Amino acid sequence: VSIQGSYARDTWLSGEADLDIFACFPPTVTREEWIKIILPLLRKQLVSYYVIERYAEHPFLELHAENVRVNIVPCYQVQRGQWKSATDRSPYHTEYMKSHLTPTLRLEARFLRRFMKGLHTYGAEIKIGGFSGMLVETLVLRYGSFMGTLQNASDWTPPIYIDLDTDQISKGEHFTNFNSEFVVIDPVDPNRNLAAAVTPSNLWNFVEASRMFTTSPGLWYFYPPKFKPKTRSEFTRKIANNNFHLNSISFKHPPIVIDVLWGELRRLQKSIIGVLERYDFQVKRSLAWSDEKTASGILLELDSDELPQVVRRKGPAVSNRNGSESFIKRHLQMKDTVRGPWIVDNQWLVDKKRKIWNIYQLFTQAIEDKSYGLILPKDLDSHFRKTWKLRSEKETVSLAQRNKEFNQALWHFIEAKPVWLKANTEKYQ
Ligand code: CTP
Ligand code: MG
Repeated sequence: VSIQGSYARDTWLSGEADLDIFACFPPTVTREEWIKIILPLLRKQLVSYYVIERYAEHPFLELHAENVRVNIVPCYQVQRGQWKSATDRSPYHTEYMKSHLTPTLRLEARFLRRFMKGLHTYGAEIKIGGFSGMLVETLVLRYGSFMGTLQNASDWTPPIYIDLDTDQISKGEHFTNFNSEFVVIDPVDPNRNLAAAVTPSNLWNFVEASRMFTTSPGLWYFYPPKFKPKTRSEFTRKIANNNFHLNSISFKHPPIVIDVLWGELRRLQKSIIGVLERYDFQVKRSLAWSDEKTASGILLELDSDELPQVVRRKGPAVSNRNGSESFIKRHLQMKDTVRGPWIVDNQWLVDKKRKIWNIYQLFTQAIEDKSYGLILPKDLDSHFRKTWKLRSEKETVSLAQRNKEFNQALWHFIEAKPVWLKANTEKYQ
């Protein structure tokens, strides 16, 4: 049993660190045994704490002791390269960073970590999709300092490839292997991309913030202004400025391992957008939100939540004899044909009545009927069906008056401007 993570590497941030306690097992112990025997045994020893199960690539336990988050993580004690699980590299990470980071570099790493936190780009978990602690430290090692990293990042252009050992070597081959435009080789494992979790949005937010910071630095990048919950009228005024239609679809669910929940929410979000777009609703932006306990939802900004009830469909070219025949058969004197079909140049046209013209109809149908293509992830499925609720703009704003975290998420969503950029412009107003 050992302490790993940023605490062991001495790069943790005061007041924010977690304690990563690793229990290393011989490779003969199976994953089943971890889950069925070892984790329950550990839980038994920890009865005086509130312990939750979490999941990265395999399960671990999380608890809070004296305001410190403690992770209890099983891993395999293996030779370098003989990895059996994702966490086996951690002891090697600790060893590597302990021998490579000087006290000054550890301080530089802390600057970069705090900077990333201020931008909301820190943390490799699915919810964030940002930079991990190891990634931050590897960048500082590569560029020699916090400012060095920002100066270099300011000029990054894709593809970005960073390898402490063999800069530039076999670049092409590695890119195809990693299938990503942002590759930072794990210093203890040449086959692992430390930046695999970083979403393109987080990467490019970091790049732009680096440019801004290096030209006009400020503390607000590290410590964004504290959010004050917004009132109903502040929301109404803000929304009045844009032309989009805000809606939210929310639902209750049983407590699920947080990382699994976020994975499923992202999939649900994607599926909902897909269905909306297939039925001609233009989704401008969307956001998955959760209180991480029992309530989650997807925010949607649409061009319009109601479509004209008649839609013009293009048929085949008139010169296509067979196509024309079946088009006429399909539309002439049909109930849902409003006008036509008629010919313009070499083209058949027809005006049809829409089956679905508002999003409430669409959700109601799509939840009942699989052919609409809505995929409900397995842990959300039954609760979603029973508890889904579509809220209009007004109702969504009302919800934000009852929940502080949702208030903040909704405000940032409507504002559509990164916090660091806002702080920056406010300073110079
Ligand atoms: N780890 C990893 N890849 C990740 C997340 C974690 O390799 N995407 C490993 C690293 O070895 C890391 C350890 O798990 O040091 C603990 O993870 P975590 O606590 O998330 O990161 P820390 O580096 O300890 O940073 P923080 O201060 O944010 O806890
Ligand atoms: Mg940690």
